[in-house]
Amino acid sequence: MYKTLKEMDIKGKKVVLRCDFNVPIKDGKILDDNKIVASLETIKYLIDNDCKVIILSHLGKIKEKSDLKKNTLVPVAKRLLKLLTSELNYKNIHVAFSNHTRSNVLKEKVDALKEKEILVLENTRYEDFPNKYESNCDEELSKFWASLGDVFVNDAFASAHRAHASTVGIAKHLPSCMGFLFQKELEALDQNVMNPEKPFTVIMGGAKLEDKIKVINKLISKCDHLLLTGGIANTFLKALNINIGFSLYSDNAELMQEIKQMLLDYKDKIVLPFDAIVGSSYDKEYTNYKTIDKIEDNEIILDLGNKTMEKYKEYINESKTVFVNGTAGKYEEEKYSNGTKTLLNILNDSSASVVFGGGDSTASVKKFLPKNNFTYLCTGGGATLDYIINGTLPAIEALKGEEEYEILDI
Ligand code: 3PG
Repeated sequence: MYKTLKEMDIKGKKVVLRCDFNVPIKDGKILDDNKIVASLETIKYLIDNDCKVIILSHLGKIKEKSDLKKNTLVPVAKRLLKLLTSELNYKNIHVAFSNHTRSNVLKEKVDALKEKEILVLENTRYEDFPNKYESNCDEELSKFWASLGDVFVNDAFASAHRAHASTVGIAKHLPSCMGFLFQKELEALDQNVMNPEKPFTVIMGGAKLEDKIKVINKLISKCDHLLLTGGIANTFLKALNINIGFSLYSDNAELMQEIKQMLLDYKDKIVLPFDAIVGSSYDKEYTNYKTIDKIEDNEIILDLGNKTMEKYKEYINESKTVFVNGTAGKYEEEKYSNGTKTLLNILNDSSASVVFGGGDSTASVKKFLPKNNFTYLCTGGGATLDYIINGTLPAIEALKGEEEYEILDI
């Protein structure tokens, strides 16, 4: 079993803390700092326990040299400092930044840290260029990062599906535990998705069914209702030989076969849209309301229709638990965002425990309903889905590791 932060002796220690600060950044500006805010509870606990905190995180992907500059963690370190002072009221908090991810200079910086001080390292994936040391969980790199601390705290649930040096490798070489955010995400998923109170409704949307079919397979036997929206619903409609015009769907013969069988096996659980707001393949201004059987060849389904939402509302209102992944329509465009907004309000008004599974669905909550009663918004997209599919994740298994801790000499 893994240890939680409260079970770990961390008082006054050097703590290597893995966060997921993979936040959207444009022109050096952070567009959504939710993941940084979500990490504050663990960071506060470490500061209040007089730790010297060494923070690791990835940001984006580093495949070529030009990716380095645009994925620097400098804006994140600056935002962290701001949040520590504005949100947590630390007056003289010290947040330093290391351009190096591995060097003697970095070791010296770590050795010079005082209690309650923070050092943010540059993006762990800088180690991926050109040799993918981070992503391939390189042993030497894992040992080096482990050598920086006395204890490893992994708070990066959103990266826990990656078996990388900073998520899995370090845990092999240091006493390790799970941070508060990681623990909260797991508990939310365990209670509301893995062992939900019934009736349990799953709402799946988004573009590509290929990305979600395994999750649907996992949840379909467990849930009472599966309400489909977006490109995923389109693929199911197509499998029923309904004309979806130019709408987005997954054109894969094997997948189609699988869906056809699913529609037969679970016909009482799967609920599909029966009306829609459509656009047109040739006229950007065109929008129209249609029942699903009236869609024409050049039309595109872009949002849910009112009758579908009324029906979905009935299922939601009789549920005790709802899990949401993906959005209803092309919600980035105002004229096609009504379905997403209406569903959010229906969910918010219901008495069910509602958990959002990361990615677009969580972003849509932040955009349209920042003040809400939802039970939990997961910070992890891929990690959430992988956890549902496999019941565990590489970083969770690494935290359970019972290996002897080697004496490090680097
Ligand atoms: C995420 O945003 O889902 C996590 O930070 C993982 O990012 P990755 O897909 O680049 O590994």
